[in-house]
Order: sequence, then structure tokens, then C-alpha cells
Amino acid sequence: MPIVAIDGPAGSGKSTVARAVADRLGVAYLDTGAMYRSVAFAALRDGIDAHDGDALAKLAGNLDIELGDRVLVDGTDATAAIRGPDVTALVSTVSTHPAVRADMVRRQRQWAAEHGGGVAEGRDIGTVVFPHADVKVFLTATEAERARRRQRDDRAPDVDVVAADLARRDALDSSRTTSPLRPADDAVVIDTTGRTVDDVVTEIVGMV
Ligand code: DC
Repeated sequence: MPIVAIDGPAGSGKSTVARAVADRLGVAYLDTGAMYRSVAFAALRDGIDAHDGDALAKLAGNLDIELGDRVLVDGTDATAAIRGPDVTALVSTVSTHPAVRADMVRRQRQWAAEHGGGVAEGRDIGTVVFPHADVKVFLTATEAERARRRQRDDRAPDVDVVAADLARRDALDSSRTTSPLRPADDAVVIDTTGRTVDDVVTEIVGMV
């Protein structure tokens, strides 16, 4: 079951690169951030506090998440909403809860079994979800570059606001007790600053 694990902070180019690698290899692609975002979306919908781990675990356990061209949460199209500012503000807190993570990790392993492997991207793919992945990549980029990319993608007016939000999420994602964001010991760290998507994709496909 060949697995390519791609981890890294927000704005490191993960999603674009992971999608393109999966395309080139002709294998399935899993965006695990979209899963945590779907839980945050449902928490907002149901008025559940992002700090209430028990309620969130129950919510996650019963949630129907369909990932594809569109993201369906309990049958509702949440494709745009899960990328919106309300979900982005909450998602790092929602994803600190161990029971929420355990449920997502279970689903991610099930996905791999069903698809016979593929490219999975997130924060803990190489460290926790698939510690035996065939290829592990940790993407980075300078803070300034990551903020510029996010500003462009989100068409945000102010790069400083984007940079502050990235720094806030990085701090939460890297400091949590359960599966913090960090490169696996056997991950290849690739700095994408100043490199084209194509160049990085070719490097990873070459590793595969
Ligand atoms: O990749 P993204 O920005 O869509 O991820 C959104 C949030 O989800 C991120 O800030 C932390 C969380 N996340 C996580 O904790 N573990 C993952 N494997 C993927 C995302």
C-alpha cells in the first residue's frame, strides 16, 4: 500500500503540491485539513464551543464527511465555508482535542485501505497517521513567502493580517500535546521558497 505523506505549515504549498503529485502518479489524494475544517464547520453549525472536547468528539464521531470536488458535511455543500474566516479561526483549536484526532486518524487509515494508498497531506501524516509511509516530505517556506501565498489565494487585502493569522495557527499547531506539527525523523524537508510548484512536484515524484 504505497503512501506519500506530505506535511507542513499553512502556506507551505502543501495542498497544491500534494494534489499535483497525486495527479502525476495517478493515485488518490487526501486533504486531511479539509476533515478538521469540516468538524469546525459542524461545530459552528451546532453552536459547540471549540474548547469542549467531549462534545466535539461526539460530533466528529457522528459526522458524515465526503471529500471530492465538493466537500459535503452531513450532505450540505461546505466547500466554500470550510475555507472561510470563521472556520479558519476555529480549526486549530478544534484539532487540539485527542478524541477528535483519533476519529480523523481512523478515517484517514480507512481511506488508505480503501484506495490502496495514495498521497495524504496534513500536519501529522508522516509522524502519526502513516508512520510507515514509503515517502515522507515536510514542506516549508519562509514566513513572508507563506503569507504572500495565502494573501494571493484568499485575495486578502492586508498581508500583515494574513501573516499574523498564519503565525497564530503555526503556534497552536506546533505546540499542541497530541501530534504537534513537526517533521518525522525520516522526512525529507523541502524548502519551497522561490521554487515553482512544478519543480517541487518533480522532486517528490522522483523520490517516489
Ligand atoms: O491544511 P489546512 O490549513 O487546511 O489545515 C487546517 C487546520 O487543521 C490546521 O491549522 C491544523 C489542522 N490539521 C491538523 O491538526 N492535522 C492535520 N493532519 C491537518 C490539519
